[in-house]
Amino acid sequence: AQNPVSITVSSSAQGPVISKYIYSHFAEHLGHSIYGGFYVGDTSKIPNTNGIRNDVVAALRKMKIPSLRWPGGCFADTYHWRDGVGPKDKRPAIVNRWWGGVTEDNSFGTHDFLNMCELLGADPYVAGNVGSGTVQELADWVQYATSDSKNPMSDLRKANGRDKPWGVRFWGVGNEAWGCGGNMTAEYYANEFRKYSTFMANSDGEGKIFRIASGANSGDYNWTETLMKNIPHNLIEGIALHHYAVIDWNNKSSASEFSEKQYFQSMRQALLMDSLVTKHARIMDKYDPKKRIALVVDEWGGWYDVEKGTNPGFLFQQNTMRDALIAGTTLNIFNNHADRVRMANLAQCINVLQSVILTDQQKMILTPTYHVMEMYNVHQDATLLPLTINNDTSYGMGNEKLPAVSASASKDKSGVVHITLTNIDPAHQQKIALNLSGLNLKNVSGRILTSAKVQDHNTFTEPEKVKPVAFKGASLKGSNLDVNLPPVSVVVLTLN
Ligand code: AHR
Repeated sequence: AQNPVSITVSSSAQGPVISKYIYSHFAEHLGHSIYGGFYVGDTSKIPNTNGIRNDVVAALRKMKIPSLRWPGGCFADTYHWRDGVGPKDKRPAIVNRWWGGVTEDNSFGTHDFLNMCELLGADPYVAGNVGSGTVQELADWVQYATSDSKNPMSDLRKANGRDKPWGVRFWGVGNEAWGCGGNMTAEYYANEFRKYSTFMANSDGEGKIFRIASGANSGDYNWTETLMKNIPHNLIEGIALHHYAVIDWNNKSSASEFSEKQYFQSMRQALLMDSLVTKHARIMDKYDPKKRIALVVDEWGGWYDVEKGTNPGFLFQQNTMRDALIAGTTLNIFNNHADRVRMANLAQCINVLQSVILTDQQKMILTPTYHVMEMYNVHQDATLLPLTINNDTSYGMGNEKLPAVSASASKDKSGVVHITLTNIDPAHQQKIALNLSGLNLKNVSGRILTSAKVQDHNTFTEPEKVKPVAFKGASLKGSNLDVNLPPVSVVVLTLN
């Protein structure tokens, strides 16, 4: 019989707090993310509040969405915010040059987004335009959204119907400056960042605004190093990182019809996140040993070919148990790096890439990824309990091997411990022996997300094929917790 995987969970609650913002999301003006996804307009027959779908708001509130990034992505560096404020019938139409060349009528703008964040109970994260904007334009946007004093931008906001500012804290200074954000070098962007961020302080003074630099593409460590070295640290609060689990950019393959080999390749790309955050964080440690500047992984997730018959520029893809495992393993990685990773945004929330929600007119379904986000929300703002995994079994393909099991643990404010576990092996269950000495726990219960095949997913005709159910595979004897983790599964355990 196979030796159990042994996991020792530290009993000291001295770990960092797992920022709830690790569980954040991203909504770009792209395909049916905003239009049809979040926003249907207030004349729609689909139940809505000021044009925002009520079903979507209820689902995202239940999932506890902590923050939402907007309006891009690549779109952010073409977006001029003044086009999206004031009377809707007077707003100019523009062409969305990045995503399908479609006409953007600007009917969803700053007020719509920030009011929607209030409905969601989520903190907005606004990505500013550096690539084709100006310092003044972005400084004005900050003032428009955050200033309570008498000035031209708060006067304009009031004239547009909003008296009090929204208090936007998170601001991105451009997006993918090395690519669609302007094809800049790291040195050039660092200088641009210095200039933009100098003028972005809000009228209530510094410290209220959190400026996030456009970050590296996956393993571009020189980008992080150059920014950390060249940007004075009083001008920056966060530095981003983008990494997608893509098999091959020229042949991404189907989101739902894939071979085991392709599944293995996707998981390998997803698990790379561990070494990426480790190495980017190590560079940051050199310049910022007190870890004041956050690593913000503001785009991550699985990226596949679009569904047959859909606009290639709309990035609409199905979402299977493979995505649930990408989410479960990646969130465990972020939790375990909570000392430096203090925000992360899954790309993207609705109808684009690895979504948590898919919509079709009035219909809405929750994806396997949604369920993982909802199950894992117990970690939000809890204290990390560091753990070590010993003698993990591996899931192999040819000569290559990946660890089959991933895990993270935390203790919440009321003393309840949560452990999240994943088994990516599609054929073998994993026996796990957890040592919980010193935690003094008496009861265990759990929930599991699993399905027979990694390709399994929810559809508009079968919306609940994949959903969490009670988990009976854990037993606690003293400080020893034995768990049988079925193949293709994500589990959350609650212990008190
Ligand atoms: O999420 C889709 C796109 O991927 C974003 O617009 C861009 O930032 C990234 O390349």
